[in-house]
Amino acid sequence: MSRILLGVSGGIAAYKALELVRLATAAGHAVRVVQTPASRRFVGEASFAALSGAPVLVSEFQRDPARGSFPDQAPPTHEPLSHLELVANADLYLIAPASANTIAKLAAGLADNLLSSCALAATCPVVLAPAMNSHMYEHPATVANLETLIARGVHVVEPGTGRLASRGEEGVGRLAEPERLLAACEAALAERTRTDGAATPDGLKGLRVLVTAGGTREPIDSVRFIGNSSSGRMGFALAQAARERGAEVMLLAANVALPTPTGVARRDVVTAGELALACEDEFPRCDVLLMVAAVADFAPASPQQGKIKKSGRARLELVLEPTADVLGGLAAHRRDGQTLVGFAAEHGERALDAARGKLTGKGLDAVVVNDISRRDIGFDVEANEVTILSTSGDRSQIEHHHVPRAAKKQVAHAILDSVERLRASR
Ligand code: CTP
Repeated sequence: MSRILLGVSGGIAAYKALELVRLATAAGHAVRVVQTPASRRFVGEASFAALSGAPVLVSEFQRDPARGSFPDQAPPTHEPLSHLELVANADLYLIAPASANTIAKLAAGLADNLLSSCALAATCPVVLAPAMNSHMYEHPATVANLETLIARGVHVVEPGTGRLASRGEEGVGRLAEPERLLAACEAALAERTRTDGAATPDGLKGLRVLVTAGGTREPIDSVRFIGNSSSGRMGFALAQAARERGAEVMLLAANVALPTPTGVARRDVVTAGELALACEDEFPRCDVLLMVAAVADFAPASPQQGKIKKSGRARLELVLEPTADVLGGLAAHRRDGQTLVGFAAEHGERALDAARGKLTGKGLDAVVVNDISRRDIGFDVEANEVTILSTSGDRSQIEHHHVPRAAKKQVAHAILDSVERLRASR
């Protein structure tokens, strides 16, 4: 049982928030509702109050008969500042529907009504469910505002595609269904209880997990190679975390100078070609593939035997040939029940777009995105911050989940939480 604060902003989809309150209370959660003034034009307070069994607030200056307490709590003896008390008591703040206007305010950090003040004061996880006309949702301003909020750690439940409120219009922008909203809240709540990086005992018991880690090296001659700065730490952290959750783990390490985690089997490879062969060998047996390795996309066409001498050369030209897409090749021959997770190192603003392309293009279940324009996370450092893009249970939608900057071990557990959720939803 958790305390869910629900913020309802103005939009036709506000009626679906009523069903969410019904589902959440039926599941044993205590719910309080705050509304924006505009949302009352769509659904009145009386309906939310009846379903939540608690007073509904619209303004910071309104007296709260429950004094900021949830239905499962005794009200305090003093009269607190209602919006601060409400969010302080909440385990999670869900904003559904979140209108384009509310999303813009939250991205800018405005606190001009009770809903936005609560968002600014919230220290609990915040889940945001946009709902609006497709043109508004796809407007660059809304896209940028959502990216800002995701980067700050807000969980965004993407809207669905279909018929919209305006007659004859179709597109993206329908509020996610109440069942999906509740599942997103419960996932965010479950994750919160594991922020110390502790493992879910036995969450992957009985499963075989294949992890590739490190970076491949493509020989130029007998001593030189084309490589990359991947240290293998993220892949090794995942292998260890998967083992802690009870999985049988095989780690394919490409040029990694780290000790093998206890209880994990390891095979070492050097080149993309060797990695491809080892993957083809291990993949049919695995239930989960975590393709973390940074694989060279090009390799010297004809590596020289011995050492290339510099004497007598004004310049040296190398001819590179593309390597095989290992992950794409494995995905093409996947069997039912396998979960495939790719990792995408992307630079800057278009990172999520590029990663979405990889998720659908390679036919994966999830892609973990790193922004390599930042030096404090990702390659060859201890910490990471990622966004996990995953397909929904029926694969019709893409869900975003931001994992704030944390030690790679903690990020590894957040990724495995997503894997467990994905497998449970299929
Ligand atoms: N990958 C792979 N084989 C390759 C290149 C990449 O299996 N030859 C895998 C990586 O291990 C990673 C995922 O594909 O899990 C995405 O890798 P990335 O290099 O970001 O994507 P590419 O498809 O190579 O696209 P690009 O480099 O053009 O962005």
